[in-house]
Amino acid sequence: MINATKSSPRSADDEVPAPAGASVPAPSSESLPAQAKASSGTAADNNAGRNTAAQNAVIEPAERAACIEYAIRDVVVPATELEAKGHRILKLNIGDPLAYPGLPTPEPMIEAYAAALRHQENGYSPSYGLPALRQAIAADEQNKANGGWSCREEDVYVTTGVTEGLQLLFSAFLHPGDKVLAPGPHYPPYMAYPQMFQGSTVEYRLDPDHGWRLDLEDVRAKMDEKVKLLVVINPNNPTGGIASRETLMELLEIVRQWPQCTIISDEIYDGLNYSDSHVSLASLSPDVPVITCNGVSKVYYAPGWRIGYLALHDPRGRLEKVRDALEKLLRSRLCASTPAQLGYLAGLTGPKDWMLEYRHRLLQQRDYCMERIAALDGMEVEEPGGSFYMFPRLTHPRWATDDKTFVLDLLHQEKVLLVHGSGFSQQYGTGFVRLVFLPQVDVLEQAFDGIERFLASS
Ligand SMILES: Cc1ncc(COP(=O)(O)O)c(C=O)c1O
Repeated sequence: MINATKSSPRSADDEVPAPAGASVPAPSSESLPAQAKASSGTAADNNAGRNTAAQNAVIEPAERAACIEYAIRDVVVPATELEAKGHRILKLNIGDPLAYPGLPTPEPMIEAYAAALRHQENGYSPSYGLPALRQAIAADEQNKANGGWSCREEDVYVTTGVTEGLQLLFSAFLHPGDKVLAPGPHYPPYMAYPQMFQGSTVEYRLDPDHGWRLDLEDVRAKMDEKVKLLVVINPNNPTGGIASRETLMELLEIVRQWPQCTIISDEIYDGLNYSDSHVSLASLSPDVPVITCNGVSKVYYAPGWRIGYLALHDPRGRLEKVRDALEKLLRSRLCASTPAQLGYLAGLTGPKDWMLEYRHRLLQQRDYCMERIAALDGMEVEEPGGSFYMFPRLTHPRWATDDKTFVLDLLHQEKVLLVHGSGFSQQYGTGFVRLVFLPQVDVLEQAFDGIERFLASS
């Protein structure tokens, strides 16, 4: 997981034994390391010495990249070390369905991808995406469960995953000092990326005691004229919460008061919706611009294909200039993978019975986790309405504010891997853990046996 943090000055220990970074004037011979000093003498020698020092100096990265942290790495590294020592880790940490047995990418999609390769459909596609795929996505948005919207082919832009789409959006929308209002907790790029485009992220609260619903009072309090983008992740990663129609209507009412603000509605888990209550936000807006993000990664079980899309719902034509900028950006990065687009097209237009089967399996696994957590002393959870995540609260007094140590100690003691909630938001995620319910029930059973033993012994 990536997260942006304010970077602190590097300590001396961070530096390799070179006198200075490349951007600093060449050092005096006093500050040269022994090897360079040994060659000081003639001017030519001095130059050689300086060159040696400069040539050995570490090249500094840009601040915008250096301040990105991978919170999840903190737990993956010790897990990998344990695996190297021969331990089997029960991984409930990865939001990739292909990392677990039994949830393969559907065969017709693979056939279409492979056929595209064989038929030499390996060239660049149009920058906004293959017309047939853009049409299929538009039709899918029009026919969403619980109400679609009037999406046209030209409203759809195919990207290398939602992740690329977000970078393009932040690049197109943000002026220096602008803000993105995003849910806390959230999928970490919403915190990491805006700062790369001279913006910043402010978190609004999701309510941990009421199904992680959006705290609309908090949204209201944090809106101002600098907020250019408001993010809704629905269903949410990491909580699994689904926003109700009423909540979304109220949210639109708030955003309506701030006409400079556009909504990003990340609906990448929309088909993983266990109560059929998910509503497309764009379908509810007669006026406020809403950009829907979705793709092949989660609902179509092919995250490695890297195909996503942005669909612009702009009833009043207010995004005309931003759309123009977005299109320039899209053209400048050429296109998303052509054969992968054809694979996604097959998924969108082909039979969907497999999707119900997969969802049924996930629902059983979710319910199993709910039962086990209900019986635990030291953990409680709000039932996730969608996605394949849940975000249990650590109620055990020893762990209630130290989710990271909980995760590391659980890993070492029981070889069960979760992700600490503070990795998804220091402010709103501390004291929680994210649990992925993609593994089959027998794996979940072993994992929960371990969690139970660990809590009992804490
Ligand atoms: C809320 C959310 N949006 C977007 C993504 C990434 O999407 P993609 O694989 O299309 O880049 C993820 C991945 O976990 C996610 O959880």
